[in-house]
Amino acid sequence: MLDSTGIETNEAAGRLEAILGLSVPETHRYIYDEAKRIADEILIPAANLHDREESFPEDQVRILAQGGFMGILAPKEFGGQGLDNLALTLALEEINRGCASTGVTLSVHNSLLSSPLLHFGTDEQKARLFPGLASGESMGAYAITEPDHGSDALSIETTCRREGDEWILNGTKAWITNGSRAGTIITFATMDPALRSKGINAFVVDPTMPGFSVGKKELKLGIRGSDTVQLVFDEMRVPAENLLGEEGQGFKIAMHTLDGGRIGIATQAVGIAQACLDVAVDFAEGHEMFGRRLADNQLVSHKIADMATRIEASRLLTYRAALLKDAGKPHSRQASMAKLSSSEIANDAARMALEIHGGAGIGRQSPIERLFRDAKICEIYEGTSQIQRLVISRHVRPDRG
Ligand code: CAA
Repeated sequence: MLDSTGIETNEAAGRLEAILGLSVPETHRYIYDEAKRIADEILIPAANLHDREESFPEDQVRILAQGGFMGILAPKEFGGQGLDNLALTLALEEINRGCASTGVTLSVHNSLLSSPLLHFGTDEQKARLFPGLASGESMGAYAITEPDHGSDALSIETTCRREGDEWILNGTKAWITNGSRAGTIITFATMDPALRSKGINAFVVDPTMPGFSVGKKELKLGIRGSDTVQLVFDEMRVPAENLLGEEGQGFKIAMHTLDGGRIGIATQAVGIAQACLDVAVDFAEGHEMFGRRLADNQLVSHKIADMATRIEASRLLTYRAALLKDAGKPHSRQASMAKLSSSEIANDAARMALEIHGGAGIGRQSPIERLFRDAKICEIYEGTSQIQRLVISRHVRPDRG
């Protein structure tokens, strides 16, 4: 069977081999195949319902957890898959093609929690936290954004002060994905705002500890099934052994982590864009206008060609960023390029697919109406498109950024 990329879909990761000429290990083939099967059989049929009801895709996340998708990056010794970012990318594209609310849940869990724990965690922290994270029993969240500080992450106001063997946290975090469901949260707080980046610490927080509470639930334009809330730290006492990395290293941990997270959101955007293309091709093949198939109309076929080309280019950028991260090489610029390009095509593909559908695309029964709304967040979270351009331009113009 061929999908709209023209590549055999029953050949797991045949896509990657065809595009890059790389041979993909059996583990990656398997995870791609499984993600694709779950997307087609379980995620796509439920996505519109969870969107409409703004309900968390509980069953879908449980099935993915049982399949090992919450532990893709977690080490094998702690029950994880011990795989790499390429495997995560292959899986997340398919999951997001099926349901972007489910996709961001897994992306944050793996790339914003497991990944920094792997890089910066102590042996004790890994042994304590990974088993729950790998099985999906404990969900991960990443809390840096505050009500008044999104893009300017260096200006966060949440404070931490040391008292004996504990840190005391005070402040409010906003727009936190997985926030009300998380069993482990990475959060960031400043010892002294005057110290700027050198004053920020990272903590792995257990939300059952006194002083922590979940604030208001955010109602959203898209990805309406995902869990997005405020978090409140009110004299929350965090044991000193929950500091992640060194004192004052928190901002670098935050940025390093977001470099990887942005590959996850680039992947989400590619998945959404591919879903738009698939639905548009189906519609254009199955409908007639002015006595011929819509797909044979030159205006429509050119839209399809533009979508397919830009999706492929964005997918390549995303694979490249993942491969660089896996090779331990700098990937900040490449991750930002992948996110910028992919999130733009996700939104353009949603608009083009909607135009191909015409009136049929704006009805709530149509997946396009949901995909159109789901695409927008890719240009906003884990760094807006303006922030990606800032990061890219600083790399391209290192002395003038
Ligand atoms: N890796 C490691 N260190 C880095 C880094 C990176 N990629 N980027 C910057 N740093 C270091 C710098 O070297 C610098 O170190 P020194 O102080 O020792 O010199 C320090 O961090 C400060 O960097 P800058 O001077 O570049 O800081 P800035 O304020 O000018 O710009 C920014 C930083 C790029 C704008 C940053 O604030 C940013 O990325 N903002 C966007 C925030 C964001 O993406 N939020 C997403 C929230 S999470 C989310 O959305 C999750 C979800 O729910 C899905």
